[in-house]
Amino acid sequence: MKIFLDTAELDEIRQAARWGVLDGVTTNPSLYAKVGGSYDEILAEVCKITSGPVSAEVIADDVEGMLTEGRHFAKIAPNIVVKVAMSENGLEAISRFADEGIKTNCTLIFSANQGLLAAKAGASLLSPFVGRLDDINEDGMTCVRELVEIVAIHELDAEVLAASIRHPLHVTQAALAGAQVATLPFKILQMMIHHPLTDSGIVRFKEDWAKARAGTAAKS
Ligand code: E4P
Repeated sequence: MKIFLDTAELDEIRQAARWGVLDGVTTNPSLYAKVGGSYDEILAEVCKITSGPVSAEVIADDVEGMLTEGRHFAKIAPNIVVKVAMSENGLEAISRFADEGIKTNCTLIFSANQGLLAAKAGASLLSPFVGRLDDINEDGMTCVRELVEIVAIHELDAEVLAASIRHPLHVTQAALAGAQVATLPFKILQMMIHHPLTDSGIVRFKEDWAKARAGTAAKS
């Protein structure tokens, strides 16, 4: 499963790239609002850090507005993927972008049917929001599972990107469900690296090493 970072924080993206685990990045207006500045400049910088897909979200409600924003983003770098929210106009824009060879990520997917339609319209990434479904007492991972199955059964040319990931267990579940991608906040990626037994094990090895060295030094 590919791992994307769900952030507009450049330092986080650089760090994940150094760890060798970064396959792409997703941004959205809320993540951008946390860092501010020029969205275009941030996207350009992210695209220098990773050659993987970098999602840039359009905010227009009408088709022509979505197309204008998306075409603008697509010129920033070849790995930009235009993120379009699921809606009637969103589907039309996705279909038009596909005709123009511009890749899209259909966002705010909360049902397998929405994902199926997005894939048919031509979206290359389908983003079911796991955490936000869990928040309203639904099983968000069911949506991921169903969509993965539908894409496989019907050989649709799209990848399922598990989004709105809230904890490391979501990542394991998305991987087991066969999601091709999961996009994670940086904090979740860090939580995946650490385990209390790993961290205490490193401390104990260091202590034992120091004791052994001290013993060797005392004997010589
Ligand atoms: C990613 O593409 C989504 O915009 C993001 O995962 C949403 O996450 P949230 O539900 O935590 O805001």
